[in-house]
Amino acid sequence: MGLVEGKVAIITGAGANIGEACAKMLAKNGASVVVADINMDGAERVAGEINASGSTAIARTVNLAEEASIAALVKAVMARFGRIDILHNNAANTGAAQMTRDASLAEMDAEVWDAAFDINTRGTMLMTKHVAPHMAAGGGGSIINTSSGVSLLGDILNPAYSSSKAAVNALTRNTAAQFGRANIRCNAILPGLVLSPVARAQMTDTQLAMIQRHVLLPRESVADDIAGAVLWLASDLGSFATGQIISIDGGICHHQAHYADMLDMFAGAQG
Ligand SMILES: NC(=O)c1ccc[n+]([C@@H]2O[C@H](COP(=O)([O-])OP(=O)(O)OC[C@H]3O[C@@H](n4cnc5c(N)ncnc54)[C@H](O)[C@@H]3O)[C@@H](O)[C@H]2O)c1
Repeated sequence: MGLVEGKVAIITGAGANIGEACAKMLAKNGASVVVADINMDGAERVAGEINASGSTAIARTVNLAEEASIAALVKAVMARFGRIDILHNNAANTGAAQMTRDASLAEMDAEVWDAAFDINTRGTMLMTKHVAPHMAAGGGGSIINTSSGVSLLGDILNPAYSSSKAAVNALTRNTAAQFGRANIRCNAILPGLVLSPVARAQMTDTQLAMIQRHVLLPRESVADDIAGAVLWLASDLGSFATGQIISIDGGICHHQAHYADMLDMFAGAQG
């Protein structure tokens, strides 16, 4: 028996990278998976690979900026499967066109700010709004919101993105509070840097080395690090965890600012 055997899961942004890994992890562990993405080619590829491996998936298009599109997705999933047990709000507005313009607050284009909140925060809220009543009717479920480590910290880049993800943290706690008595859990996962092709393309080698210096564990993060945490929260193993904001980041957001310099100073002390 898989850890999520017989459950139905929607994963947004599952047509690539972290969402793809999470969809495959849930499917491998017994869930019927809805691979939802604005990129239908990606969604169909991922669903096809899951089905070819002997698990169950369907691909569905959704644009998280449009409530009607979200409502249509949820209606189609209910028509196909009759229940929704797991919702993973993974999609975000992370394209280069958005992220490169999300830089200086002094020059912030309000459209860039809104485009971050529209997908990352409002889209997550609307998915929750449309899915939670079905979960409640089915006896409960698990909602997992993908936030980001940058939601906890200040930086010189991407203030719209990090603010929208900080709002996801607050939304997570409010969702847990509002739906807890319906046996719906809601938790957020905060990745550090997972080197998807999209993330890697936006980063120089120097930037990457600077970031890696602050990861406490001696390797880079991979998408399956996030998928493992999603599986735990989606399954009954995580059945008393709700309202939690959980970093899966190799400790990058959880050490003293002087850590890397101290490590150099005391080189060898950690073996
Ligand atoms: N990769 C990282 O290092 C990292 C770090 C921290 C947090 N995260 C978060 O993890 C999640 C996944 O990140 P990723 O690196 O795999 O991102 P990605 O850009 O590779 O994938 C995001 C997916 O969301 C989809 N999407 C974008 N806009 C959409 C919309 N309007 N409607 C529906 N789908 C839409 C895209 O088509 C894409 O498939 C995101 O929430 C991201 O903010 C990623």
